[in-house]
Amino acid sequence: MKDAENPTIYLKDYTPPNWLVEDVHLTFRLAPQATRVLSRIRFVPNPDTQDRRFFLEGEDLRLISARIDGETVTTEVTDEGLICDVPEAAFLWEAEVEIAPEANTALEGLYMSGGMYSTQCEAQGFRKITYYPDRPDVMATFTVRIESDMPVLLSNGNKVATGDGFAEWHDPWPKPAYLFALVAGNLVNLPGSFTTKSGRAVELNIWVRPGDEDKCDFALEALKKSMRWDEEVYGREYDLDIFNIVAVDDFNMGAMENKGLNIFNSAAVLASPETATDANFERIEAIIAHEYFHNWTGNRITCRDWFQLCLKEGLTVFRDAQFTADMRSEPMKRISDVLDLRGRQFREDGGPLAHPVRPESFQEINNFYTATVYEKGAEVIGMLKRLVGDEAYAKAVALYFDRHDGQACTIEDWLQVFEDTTGRDLSQFKLWYAQAGTPRVTMTEDWEDGTYTVTLKQSLPPTPGQAGKSPQVIPFAIGLLDRSGAEVVPTTLLELTETEQSFTFTDLKARPVPSPLRGFSAPVILERETSNEDRAFLLAHDTDPFNRWEAGRQLAKSALIGMIDDGKAPVSGYLDALSRLVTDETLDPAFRALAMALPSEDDLAQSFADMGQTPEPQRIWNGREDMRAAMAKALEGELRPLYDQHLVTGPYSPEAGPAGQRALTNTLLSLMTRSDGGAAARAQYKAADNMTQQLGALSALLANDLGADELAAFAGQWAHERLVMDKWFMIQVAQARPEEAAGVAVALSQHPDFTMKNPNRFRAVFGALAMNQAGFHHASGAGYRLMADWLIKLDPLNPQTTARMASAFQTWRRYDADRQAMMSEQLNRIAALPGLSRDTAEMVGRILAA
Ligand code: BES
Ligand code: ZN
Repeated sequence: MKDAENPTIYLKDYTPPNWLVEDVHLTFRLAPQATRVLSRIRFVPNPDTQDRRFFLEGEDLRLISARIDGETVTTEVTDEGLICDVPEAAFLWEAEVEIAPEANTALEGLYMSGGMYSTQCEAQGFRKITYYPDRPDVMATFTVRIESDMPVLLSNGNKVATGDGFAEWHDPWPKPAYLFALVAGNLVNLPGSFTTKSGRAVELNIWVRPGDEDKCDFALEALKKSMRWDEEVYGREYDLDIFNIVAVDDFNMGAMENKGLNIFNSAAVLASPETATDANFERIEAIIAHEYFHNWTGNRITCRDWFQLCLKEGLTVFRDAQFTADMRSEPMKRISDVLDLRGRQFREDGGPLAHPVRPESFQEINNFYTATVYEKGAEVIGMLKRLVGDEAYAKAVALYFDRHDGQACTIEDWLQVFEDTTGRDLSQFKLWYAQAGTPRVTMTEDWEDGTYTVTLKQSLPPTPGQAGKSPQVIPFAIGLLDRSGAEVVPTTLLELTETEQSFTFTDLKARPVPSPLRGFSAPVILERETSNEDRAFLLAHDTDPFNRWEAGRQLAKSALIGMIDDGKAPVSGYLDALSRLVTDETLDPAFRALAMALPSEDDLAQSFADMGQTPEPQRIWNGREDMRAAMAKALEGELRPLYDQHLVTGPYSPEAGPAGQRALTNTLLSLMTRSDGGAAARAQYKAADNMTQQLGALSALLANDLGADELAAFAGQWAHERLVMDKWFMIQVAQARPEEAAGVAVALSQHPDFTMKNPNRFRAVFGALAMNQAGFHHASGAGYRLMADWLIKLDPLNPQTTARMASAFQTWRRYDADRQAMMSEQLNRIAALPGLSRDTAEMVGRILAA
């Protein structure tokens, strides 16, 4: 379609850079409409190559001058960069360019947001700042001088000089350009300090706009915990004298790991009990850790090219998950990660956007910061760790840091340290990086004379551009229980390497109840014939907490599907089991809350598609409502006493314990509100001194068509807190009835506080519309049209966020002919737009190609 304009880049075409950079000096003369950037770059020939042609990436730059070794040179400038004749040997490049940060709404490169300057360079934003070999395998030390009358001037590394109207920073660690950052603004800081295990004193700062300084304490503590944890668990120490974090309102992603100067979406760092929910606190702790951990996995050791993105992202997600499990609860973290994996990654892997953990081609790399690269990329590391064991994992990772510090690496380098440590051949394991799609594992059982046999079969469905796949290495953890619930075989790791394999357990007294795929030991879809009795048994007895939850989940799902399919009353077994579980005071309240959460509409739609049926969004919505009504009835006598017992009062703490209790009471509250006319929810709303309970109460009311007064009061109370107003925008779309969702989104888009320049606000409305499945897929087609209208409006301003949100359409092939026609009409309307961004063109093109 747009292929002539948007070339495809292939992994197989990788060639090393012709020129390397020794060091970089940048001077910024900041001005909103005309910032001058002066660069002084020492280039040296790459001894590994012969080719001496010279090309620098550059986009939307006005070139003022270019010199080589002090002499003005002529250059050939295109939309993508600059070509120039250069000497054979090392030389000094000096250029001056002009850019316009104020006009930059794409939020990539140097831009202005709320009166401050900030940058976002990953993946390919540095080329919007100056001409440069903008590729991660070119690593250099940076010295940066910022000239501006803004009071706070920040860049990477250590501060070396400062004075009236300027500051100079030097980063001694060679880095790729994507880790460059600059911030200038009227900011205030929460200061802190940390002493590393070898005694280095590190100055810490969280920089925010005046007024937000009371929302930084939690992030600062999370940073210190992360720094300590990485020393203790991975032996990694921080390597500069200062670590700065800056909160920015307009930001496409969650946060960015620029060396020594992490930049955060304000939603991912600012928190106070009054304005942030428990879920916000947990996310902030995880994301602070994630970006901090990149200092070693990403920055000290970076990626050779963007195809290797999972090398830093998969590993860092894995590390931040370990951290969260250590700080909070390991089983709860695992359960929520698997929910997320199934909800986002399996959905991606099963549709037109499926791609390998290490993609082989792209048009726009921003489109590959995906659930597959991140979450499946982290799963692959978890499997590797399980296969080689904890000790070998620790040794291999230590070797990785030792061997590759200061380098730009590949997945091959990563796997090599495991092969070298363990002597194991990982060539089959490597297929996890190369083959897209979610493996299906079918399990069958046999029982004879004290011998129990498990037979596992694997298959991998075709995905775009990939058919005829090979079997992968699947670590399959299994335990066996007897009928009293005692564990007769503790967790054992089976290694499935062939298409079909059998494993036997001998000398058993009676036929066991298996607990398969414990801890979700591999990101696969497990298919097996099992009874609701066995599920209820595992829900009550399994010693593996993940599988306990999983059994309840399957029970809930089959009950729900039964209700949706033929209006069956929910299997009484399910409601009995649920009521036992919810009242079981030996169980973590957070676990009980999660066990009560129903599978999402999208999850159910996928289940119908998997069974070869066409999902009917309205019926799925109705089914979940019916199930909630049935739950409320079955638990009628328990709700209020349990709620009273677990309601947290007194000073707020964001820790896992009280957060779990609030999760449970909010869940109970939403059921209570079905029958008490909103009395309990109104009481909680009034009494709440924290956002978790305030929003929980509001949500319970809105879900029951109540709460108009509270909604208005909420807006009045929080009009000046953007992050809270995002919640106000979002909850209305999320809780809207299917037939009203698009209309609610339209009304909110006309609200004076709506702006599409702020990605958080845009996502609050239109991201929520995409999540409201019955609303988005309403038979009128209004959801589809509205989404397309707004993607078309946003694309010229912010291609990256537009392209991400276009994935709302990725499941279009699941639905009936009418809906498919309506969705493809909208997708084609977007695709046909003149001047459509490369980001959105690629996404829509791939979605349509399926
Ligand atoms: N390196 C990314 C940020 C990024 C993503 C920059 C895409 C450019 C394009 C950062 O480390 C990251 O992964 N952030 C995540 C959060 C994290 C906790 C998974 C994000 O921003 O969502
Ligand atoms: Zn990351």
